[in-house]
Amino acid sequence: MTLTPEGLEHTPTLDTIIEGITCRIAERSDRGRPADYIPELARADLSRFGIAVATADGRLVTGGDRDMGFSLQSISKVFTLTLALGQVGDALWRRVGREPSGNPFNSIVQLEYEQGRPRNPFINAGAIAVTDAILSGHQPREALGAILRFIRFVSDDDGITINEDVARSEKENGFRNIALANYMRSFGILENPVDYVLGVYFHHCAIEMNCRQLAMAGRYLAFGGRHTPGGARVVSAERARRINALMLTCGHYDGSGDFAFHVGLPGKSGVGGGILAIVPGKASIAVWSPGLDANGNSWLGAAALEQLAKEMRWSVFGD
Ligand code: DON
Repeated sequence: MTLTPEGLEHTPTLDTIIEGITCRIAERSDRGRPADYIPELARADLSRFGIAVATADGRLVTGGDRDMGFSLQSISKVFTLTLALGQVGDALWRRVGREPSGNPFNSIVQLEYEQGRPRNPFINAGAIAVTDAILSGHQPREALGAILRFIRFVSDDDGITINEDVARSEKENGFRNIALANYMRSFGILENPVDYVLGVYFHHCAIEMNCRQLAMAGRYLAFGGRHTPGGARVVSAERARRINALMLTCGHYDGSGDFAFHVGLPGKSGVGGGILAIVPGKASIAVWSPGLDANGNSWLGAAALEQLAKEMRWSVFGD
């Protein structure tokens, strides 16, 4: 309840806000377009929408198709970045930058200008270089196993798996990623055989999760590197803070500025239509709607987050 000049006013709870957003999104006729570079994503049902919010007091508030699995795609890059920093520490930044790209996620031209060193760990070239760091000293199967184990650990769910059909399609249609990887290899940015690196990259993009699992997985970023406030440590508070900073500045590629403007939260999108957004100290949010905008980010997912951040006053830039 809030005291206003007119008297006591009911303050909406997170549950009613999520319910309202889910209803409003269902009524929208503008739903974006699915990713069309592989058949598995192209045939997505645009009417779908799911949301889950894991809060500091241990609740999971959900709406819509919260149990429906979707392809994680570029959201997996948050987890591979966390894992790579755990393995090689700040040495990772010798081969990947930390600046927004202002270019599409699969841009080739920028890589040439910058001598094969990707702008940030979330564009495809950067994520491929991060995957290479995880792979060094291991077999591809071991590296992929470590990625999947880490995602299962942070989401507290051993049921998370890789969609092998998506991984196969990614490989069959991955011409641009193959070009990016070969180009980086020519500059010595990649240490491992391109086939191995891309095999692991395509498979981690093909991990499937639902909104509940993804919201749970993002908790360590929301709660200062811990599973829950005061709970087990996953990464240092500094590392969680820095990953959030990269999500805010680079998580939506050339749509990152617009996402910060409208939503005001660190977020990472994937072409499967998911977005993981972090409210530092307060919540980890997963939304999913497979229709994308022109930058490859979920159209209604971002709209839902804008509404949620506004109603909860969760923007990191203030009320
Ligand atoms: O490598 C690719 O192009 C895709 N597997 C992932 C791209 C992606 O999710 C970009 N995010 N919006």
